[in-house]
Amino acid sequence: MIALERAKHPLKGDIFVPGDKSISHRSIMFGALAKGTTEVTGFLESADCLSTIDCFKKLGVEIEHSIRPTNGVPTITVHGGGLNNFTAPNSTLYTGNSGTTTRLMSGILSAQPFDSMITGDMSIEKRPMERIIKPLTQMGAEVTSIMGNGCAPLRFTGGRSLHGINYRSPVSSAQVKSCIMLAGLYAEGDTVVYEPALSRNHTEIMLSAFGADIHNEVARDGSAACILHPGMPLSGMKINVPGDISSAAYFMAAALIVPDSEILIRNVGINATRAGIITVLKQMGADITLLNVDESHEPKADILVRYSELHGNENHQFVIGGKDIPRMIDELPVVAVLAATADCDTIIKDAAELKIKESNRIDTVVDGLTKMGCDVEATDDGMIIHGGRPLRGADIDSHSDHRLAMSFAIASLAAEGTTRILGDECVGISYPSFFKDLQTLL
Ligand code: S3P
Repeated sequence: MIALERAKHPLKGDIFVPGDKSISHRSIMFGALAKGTTEVTGFLESADCLSTIDCFKKLGVEIEHSIRPTNGVPTITVHGGGLNNFTAPNSTLYTGNSGTTTRLMSGILSAQPFDSMITGDMSIEKRPMERIIKPLTQMGAEVTSIMGNGCAPLRFTGGRSLHGINYRSPVSSAQVKSCIMLAGLYAEGDTVVYEPALSRNHTEIMLSAFGADIHNEVARDGSAACILHPGMPLSGMKINVPGDISSAAYFMAAALIVPDSEILIRNVGINATRAGIITVLKQMGADITLLNVDESHEPKADILVRYSELHGNENHQFVIGGKDIPRMIDELPVVAVLAATADCDTIIKDAAELKIKESNRIDTVVDGLTKMGCDVEATDDGMIIHGGRPLRGADIDSHSDHRLAMSFAIASLAAEGTTRILGDECVGISYPSFFKDLQTLL
């Protein structure tokens, strides 16, 4: 449990956030699938990404942590053996709390010559895996939900030959898309995944840098297609992971919620498929400036955020929905906190995916905000936040959901009295030094 008080002063300062979680996972996975050495700097050493390293070690991949002698930078080195060089694990692969590890690894395990099992913690064992079992089965894989409930533990039967598919995903999900693409690397023929709106495209960007023939296209019907022609060799490479915009979001929100604050968040990944929070907050009147923009494959920038009063349109409304949702899905809890302080009603819609994250984030966010005195209602696919009421401190259960713990820590900065976050240690899933870093700005 951690107790937090309203901020006594404006927040000022510079901050670096840890490496991007999605890119960190993929750097290990694709490094393991490639031939040769992959050197990763800026890797996020959080529980989720360490689960990915553990799983690949169990598949016989050599992975080292070291400090570069030349500049003292922590580096992860993956000695990849190519697509067909894994060894059968001698126990069930354990993914902890990580949906990305569970779903992406499933694509790889489906195509191995050996049997394997994968599972994670109590939250993972409740999250839907049918969304990957269905397409993997269509590709020829044999994947069984051991409890018969469409969730992990999952068993993969070895020695299946896979074939490419054209798959129309009902949801925009990078985990589903990436899982299918990874199985597609092993398949006979091309694999195409269509999703309603483009989800984060780190898999496409990084796999193509490793040598794969994979790209995104807008399909005739306007959906987002991801197309893979398998067969190209993957070779190890150097990867420098930018700061995670999902972690930066908490400090953006901190600057926007505490009067007169100004925070510079350095070296943050601003890939367009992740940067919905910047677009949306600017539309609400946030003073956000991108500095030192580096337009590489994974663009990055320093983000300068100054306190701003957030507002809606002339009817005092602001709607967040449609194609913006996959571009900011993980940031919606902290955006909801900001909306509670904004001078408008904020309607979050098309976001039913929130229900199946580390917690049911529609329920858990609405509960927490209600406890803090906000007028908010849950809807089937989001929530309506009637902003502008003063927030008051409360006891907030994190539900072991890292993004919830951090979002309500930010709410506490604007709340009268003490806010206690129960189960705050779950921040270790994506941002182990979060409370320490927040403290440097207070
Ligand atoms: C992720 C994809 C998203 C996101 C998650 C990380 C990824 O999940 O919420 O935190 O790295 O591919 P979905 O694909 O389920 O939307």
